[in-house]
Amino acid sequence: MERKQRKKTNRSSNHNQKQEEEAAMAESESAAESAAKIRAEGGSHKKRNALVMGRRTWDSIPPKFRPLPGRLNVVLTRSSCPHTVLGSASSEDVIVCSGLRSALRTLASPQYSTSIETVFVIGGGQIYK
Ligand SMILES: NC(=O)c1ccc[n+]([C@@H]2O[C@H](COP(=O)([O-])OP(=O)(O)OC[C@H]3O[C@@H](n4cnc5c(N)ncnc54)[C@H](OP(=O)(O)O)[C@@H]3O)[C@@H](O)[C@H]2O)c1
Repeated sequence: MERKQRKKTNRSSNHNQKQEEEAAMAESESAAESAAKIRAEGGSHKKRNALVMGRRTWDSIPPKFRPLPGRLNVVLTRSSCPHTVLGSASSEDVIVCSGLRSALRTLASPQYSTSIETVFVIGGGQIYK
């Protein structure tokens, strides 16, 4: 009788263990699916970085490579016709600003603040002066 009871208890604890293992497996599969989805979307929040650069640095990038892909290119110029500095490269991946303060203000605006991960100031030398 006692042995029968022990057998029953063992069976029930095996059943619980199996359920726990299945739950853990389902959880890890769902985590793996989420990670794959995030990778497919290109980041945890689909955010991109911003690269702030002087107009001459922009000019030094071969036209076929600019704007630098996957990032928001922010070009600084004092030109009174800012959009002419971009030539035909105008796209949603590049904006022109009249100075560093203006660039940071633009990046902090609602249009960009939620979609920009990190702002990198990449030079050249003049924009640090
Ligand atoms: N090795 C590296 O890692 C690295 C990195 C970056 C750059 N670089 C090199 O550095 C060279 C360019 O550097 P650079 O110092 O001569 O020029 P730069 O800083 O890239 O660009 C200077 C231009 O930026 C605009 N600008 C600068 N300060 C500004 C401000 N406060 N407000 C508004 N606009 C401003 C002006 O454009 P406007 O004249 O249009 O008004 C100015 O002529 C390139 O050859 C590039 O390849 C190298």
